Amino acid sequence: MTESLLAAPGAEVATDAEAAADAADALRITHHRLDDGVRDVIAKEIAERTSASVLDSDDNQAILSGIGAHVLRRHLPGQVLDALDAFRLDGRHVLKLSNLPTQHFPPTPVHGYGDESALPLVNALHFGLVKLLGMTPYAVAYENRGRLIRNVVPNPEAAGATSSWGADSEFFWHTDNPHLPFGEPGTDPRGYVPRYLTFYTVRNEERVPTEVAAVDEVVRHLDPALLRALERPGFVVGAPDSNDFPDAPELLDGTALFDRDEAGRNRARYDAGTTRGTDPATDEQVRAFHTALGRVHGAAFTLETGDFLVFDNYRVVHRRRAFTPDPAPTARWLRRCYAS
Ligand SMILES: [Fe+2]
Repeated sequence: MTESLLAAPGAEVATDAEAAADAADALRITHHRLDDGVRDVIAKEIAERTSASVLDSDDNQAILSGIGAHVLRRHLPGQVLDALDAFRLDGRHVLKLSNLPTQHFPPTPVHGYGDESALPLVNALHFGLVKLLGMTPYAVAYENRGRLIRNVVPNPEAAGATSSWGADSEFFWHTDNPHLPFGEPGTDPRGYVPRYLTFYTVRNEERVPTEVAAVDEVVRHLDPALLRALERPGFVVGAPDSNDFPDAPELLDGTALFDRDEAGRNRARYDAGTTRGTDPATDEQVRAFHTALGRVHGAAFTLETGDFLVFDNYRVVHRRRAFTPDPAPTARWLRRCYAS
């Protein structure tokens, strides 16, 4: 079991050593790998506690959370429990846990939705970890049919789309649902940018990396005058492809792309496909920002079966390069849940 405060073991090596050092310096990552014995005892105990009933990830989320958190608290090493506890409080950007239990997995539900009751172990683990992180899982009515778990899969119907269901188009550096206001602790999260994105990895045989960069690193790539401009409310940010109209909030008009949270930390909102200026000058600022983002390095996580990843969607940007998915039964499949 290892922990790195700056760069995760396995984060891909930079071509430019200086850029990599800068990115690693900005990104605060915690990584732990479970021993096989710990993994197996957690799997056995969750299976025993979930085998007697049918548990759906929406209808029975609280029960799955309770079972998962109980078993994880009993068996995870103290160091891992402390890391989960500290993630939010310490303002870390990314936490990764490797070698979590797996179960029998059905074929990848490439059209987006599958039988949730067939996945009691991964749902108990996922919601249990969210609970131990001190977070609340939630969904919004206008996205993913209002379901808590989003199957991040290469959906053939999303070909060409920059969406969590896309594959063949690069999804450039962005934050999720950037067209909403930033939320504050203790509020109903559904009207705000999702604070945290959490993922459990079912399969990633195509070895597609999930790339993450600290907003602090992005800021270092911006000319100070451009940063000041992006901190002014001169921009329009629309809803991403994943939002189902007409119920979704459509756009944020007259917003800044950068600001600071209550602790003075940088946060950002951006989606290249939906962000624009309100006049030629601010349009030019968006183009300059986009160009600067192209120099951002970040860190790449090639998630494997049984990996869990959480990152702060206010204080990091993320991207996924274009890839060629495997055939449907074994295509890439991550399970994502918003949390606040
Ligand atoms: Fe995203």
